[in-house]
Amino acid sequence: MKFPAVQREKWLVLLTFLHMWIGSSNGCLYPGGDYEFKLKLDKNVIPALAGCAQIPCAYSAPMRTHSGRLVWFSGSPDFPISPRDMERKDGLLRPLASILEECSIVLWDFSGHERVEEYGVMLEWGTNETHVYDERVAVSYSAAKLNISLHSEVLEAGKRTIIICSLPDLCLNSDPIVTWKGLNSKQLRRLRFPREMETYLMYSEQLFYTPVPEDHQAEITCEATFGKNLSASATMTLTVHSHPQILNSSTCSLKQDLLTCVCVSQGVPLPDVHWPLQNNIDFNTVVSSDGHITVRSTFTMKVVDLTSISSPVCVSRNPLGQTNMTLPLNMDEVLEEPEGDGQSKNDLES
Ligand SMILES: *[C@@H]1O[C@H](CO)[C@@H](O)[C@H](O)[C@H]1NC(C)=O
Ligand SMILES: *[C@@H]1O[C@H](CO)[C@@H](O)[C@H](O)[C@H]1NC(C)=O
Ligand SMILES: *[C@@H]1O[C@H](CO)[C@@H](O)[C@H](O)[C@H]1NC(C)=O
Ligand SMILES: *[C@@H]1O[C@H](CO)[C@@H](O)[C@H](O)[C@H]1NC(C)=O
Ligand SMILES: *[C@@H]1O[C@H](CO)[C@@H](O)[C@H](O)[C@H]1NC(C)=O
Repeated sequence: MKFPAVQREKWLVLLTFLHMWIGSSNGCLYPGGDYEFKLKLDKNVIPALAGCAQIPCAYSAPMRTHSGRLVWFSGSPDFPISPRDMERKDGLLRPLASILEECSIVLWDFSGHERVEEYGVMLEWGTNETHVYDERVAVSYSAAKLNISLHSEVLEAGKRTIIICSLPDLCLNSDPIVTWKGLNSKQLRRLRFPREMETYLMYSEQLFYTPVPEDHQAEITCEATFGKNLSASATMTLTVHSHPQILNSSTCSLKQDLLTCVCVSQGVPLPDVHWPLQNNIDFNTVVSSDGHITVRSTFTMKVVDLTSISSPVCVSRNPLGQTNMTLPLNMDEVLEEPEGDGQSKNDLES
């Protein structure tokens, strides 16, 4: 809507009068007086949230500037903040003297680095006129804290647990997206818990997960992207206890008169592997382990009478339980297999 110059003048006079009347009724503006340049920044230093800074602000300015434009700048007036990087947000500053108008903003954080930046405000009006307010506010940005935690420190394979990833103080409207990495099982169900507080967002995600034995000492990571161009991640190492298991690669073989049995077992804590031989004589056991989840026990003994061999049993035990396996006896070594015939390797007996 355009007004002819005269009519606009009238409007201005009316507006001025109205302002004066409102101002004086609050005892802030005396008749014929005018506003002063005043700026109120709630604090000197403001900690940023993850993704943005919220700066409470209120100002006043003389009537002649009323068509002016308020400009936020970073560091000095030469570096105005682009409108793309900020948003006006009312309600951050409680009402003060009625002469003050709110100029609070939300400033997006695009880099997520730890740093302190200073901001100020100026008013531009008329053709070239500006007023730079003296007050400055500093914002301290810090890297977003993402927290990954478990309900219990020690997990058990096969038992469902809850893994939590949380971002405690996110900027509102920062649309967090969490991804999980490093888990061996695909069995998972996730629940999201966004909680909008007055000026920030508390976000957490719960993962219902059933660990597999291979998850022991796995590094799992929860990664979040949020705000404008930001991301954060947290990593933890899982401790997964599991029942002892005897692997199928466990076997016995006979070479001339030497019986060699290998029992490969997995479990956490590392299982204790032994051979409950019936009536035993001379035998020799060597135990080795990857120090992680696998134990390998090898025993060798001289066989005097082939008919006296009974199928060896390997027993594996840890605090979670025990298991045993009757090992297959691989006889090929005594059978003088013909060269090039690899098939006879599969001859098993037990
Ligand atoms: C987005 O983040 C990357 C990595 O932190 C940075 O290099 C890039 O400059 C950022 N983009 C914008 C538009 O700030
Ligand atoms: C406004 O500023 C520009 C450059 O800063 C200058 O060239 C111009 O003369 C100024 N105009 C007035 C009316 O002051
Ligand atoms: C993560 O959250 C847990 C439980 O809420 C808390 O005890 C721990 O201190 C937090 N860790 C970090 C780095 O914030
Ligand atoms: C051993 O092999 C059998 C048959 O291939 C399989 O069913 C079983 O799950 C295996 N056991 C282990 C401990 O890998
Ligand atoms: C092997 O396991 C079976 C069943 O769990 C049990 O009955 C048996 O006593 C065990 N044998 C040995 C030698 O531990």
